[in-house]
Amino acid sequence: MDLYEYQARELFASHDVPVLPGVVAETGEDARAAALGLGGAVVIKAQVKTGGRGKAGGVKLAPHPDEARRKADDILGMDIKGHRVGKVLVTTATDIADEYYFSYLLDRANRTFLAMASVEGGVEIEETAVSNPGALVRIPIDPLTGVDAAKAAQIVSAAGLPSASAEAVQRLWTTFVAEDALLVEVNPLVRDAGGAIVALDGKVTLDDNAQYRHPGHAGFRDLGAADPLEAKARARNLNYVRLDGQVGVIGNGAGLVMSTLDVVAYAGEAHRVRPANFLDLGGGASAEVMANGLEVVLSDPGVRSVLVNVFGGITACDAVADGIVRAFALLRSRGEPIDRPVVVRLDGNRADEGRRILRVAALPGLELVDTMDGAAARAAELAAQEA
Ligand SMILES: Nc1ncnc2c1ncn2[C@@H]1O[C@H](COP(=O)(O)OP(=O)(O)O)[C@@H](O)[C@H]1O
Ligand SMILES: [Mg+2]
Repeated sequence: MDLYEYQARELFASHDVPVLPGVVAETGEDARAAALGLGGAVVIKAQVKTGGRGKAGGVKLAPHPDEARRKADDILGMDIKGHRVGKVLVTTATDIADEYYFSYLLDRANRTFLAMASVEGGVEIEETAVSNPGALVRIPIDPLTGVDAAKAAQIVSAAGLPSASAEAVQRLWTTFVAEDALLVEVNPLVRDAGGAIVALDGKVTLDDNAQYRHPGHAGFRDLGAADPLEAKARARNLNYVRLDGQVGVIGNGAGLVMSTLDVVAYAGEAHRVRPANFLDLGGGASAEVMANGLEVVLSDPGVRSVLVNVFGGITACDAVADGIVRAFALLRSRGEPIDRPVVVRLDGNRADEGRRILRVAALPGLELVDTMDGAAARAAELAAQEA
């Protein structure tokens, strides 16, 4: 999950990383009140989950409260790289002496954590990396020892950052670890005219797999922006991503679902249909899980057929078939009978037994196809017919 700048700022503040005073506003009038409360000149900053807001006109200086209202009114509703601005951060304007770049991230390729720092901050780091690669230092961090005072001193001296920034660098590491982040980026980290170090911008990506350890992070979720079906699926513990096609896809295991998407996309070309979603049931496929999966997929009005592609492993195909039969009954009893064709392909452990169960049950609208390619082609064909 990516955070907005104002949320990153909150996390930074909670770990004593120095940030500027700031208030979130959703209207020009609230921005004016915030500016009045902060006193003096402020900066109005668009809150969108994309970089380059400054260049796009989403970061503006306002010398007095009336100006803060005007600037906020200009910025609210703006479109920045496809993101609509619904909130602004009103923050104290500071007198910047130097802008640096600083980040911690998980470097998957090298199986380590990495600190990246540069004296050329403010601009997009990709530009610095190309125009002046020497100005960006990359220092691996041993997860067992992390960033203590000595390591922080080593990082800032290697990058040419002032020694006064070592403390912030150490606290940013604390933030990175304590919050289970995959990325903590501060661009710019600034030295102000008085020599103080401040995190002026913040980009944080939290590890969703660690969410259970951070009940407090749930509040960061962008409920307004989330797809309602994705929210419904999440509430049912299903891994669901909505796409814009017509063939609903349900499988067990992320790898199998991914390859099913490919096969459906390929088979769909002839029928001008595409996959409508990604839905991974995970391990196990009880009637409840299967019913929830079918319910979520069929809640998408764009879906015209569903392909259930299951490879039986520890959860054998007969158990899955049983789950499908009971899911049909469950949905009927909930008053939401399955009203679109469902193509099922079962393979793997006890596939024959699973197919037998489905043949005997003779569920309305359900077809069995033995191969993955065949099942995808049939689901695509049915989706085209239903149009
Ligand atoms: N509170 C502030 N006071 C003074 N200048 C600021 C302030 N916030 C941002 N800036 C300036 O605006 C630039 C862009 O802001 P930033 O928060 O980094 O947004 P983005 O990276 O999305 O463009 C910064 O590099 C800095 O020069
Ligand atoms: Mg920035």
